[in-house]
Amino acid sequence: MIRHFLEIADLDRSQLLGLLERARRLKAGEVDRSLQGKTLALIFRKSSTRTRVSFEVGIRQLGGTGIFLADRDTQLGRGEPVMDTARVLSRYVDGIMIRTFEHAEVEALAKYAEVPVINGLTDRFHPCQLLADLQTVQEEFGPELSDLRIAWVGDGNNMAHSWLNAALLLGFELRVATPEGFEPDPELVRRARTGADVVLTTDPAEAVEGAHVVNTDVWASMGQEEEVGDRVAAFEGYRITAELMAGADPEAIFLHCLPAHRGEEVTAEVIDGPRSRIYREAENRLHAQKALLVELFSNPD
Ligand code: CP
Ligand code: NVA
Repeated sequence: MIRHFLEIADLDRSQLLGLLERARRLKAGEVDRSLQGKTLALIFRKSSTRTRVSFEVGIRQLGGTGIFLADRDTQLGRGEPVMDTARVLSRYVDGIMIRTFEHAEVEALAKYAEVPVINGLTDRFHPCQLLADLQTVQEEFGPELSDLRIAWVGDGNNMAHSWLNAALLLGFELRVATPEGFEPDPELVRRARTGADVVLTTDPAEAVEGAHVVNTDVWASMGQEEEVGDRVAAFEGYRITAELMAGADPEAIFLHCLPAHRGEEVTAEVIDGPRSRIYREAENRLHAQKALLVELFSNPD
């Protein structure tokens, strides 16, 4: 198994599928105490509801302890070098989860830590969310995802990047619709295209056409608060509406990592409607992360 989990592409296809299979068993009631006697530090440099609670509860259910570290209370938040934080925490805890801004900070933490590091969201990736999303898609369409068409409409952000990584490993078709200037990182697109059919478009209808899964996310992510006005203008036309959903597969599901803004990136009719799986998706954060923790901590090398 892997040492750190910084992005989905840290896994290979069989590791990812194995992890999702474990998540399925844990959700079905399998008891696992792999974290017995272990402690994880949970560093949050951005807000969180789902990630914090699902990690804290999951760690507890696996027999371990999580220590919540808010940015304002830590020396990291006052500028202590990541290297020192990594080396010191490694002497107390068995693993570190971090939510922060720059992905390079998580990479630095992983470089200097002597314990596994988990990315709980950076500006570049949100891999733990993707584990839950893939579990949710499997529950709907079965374990083999390579025949699916998945649509991403909105910002080419950390979630879009994570879907590109998932397409790379699992081979489903990914159609990404963004306004000009908000495309995902071309390097991640290029890499995903080595394993999957990836379509980039500015037309949401083209992305959603025949799709089995329709995804969106907020138009302004954490850290982009000052850009909200400009972004709302740029993304008008990228809202997931019932009319847009009508072009998807009749069995299509709607996913959103949450938090959501009803009436902005998605209408209430869609997000609260019969095709929405948002609460199941949020629940699966718990099961999928428990599977990740078991994999990381029962195979530390
Ligand atoms: N989806 C997600 O990561 O939610 P939180 O920001 O509440 O953790
Ligand atoms: N793209 C969003 C996801 C929040 C879970 C953000 O980074 O704020």
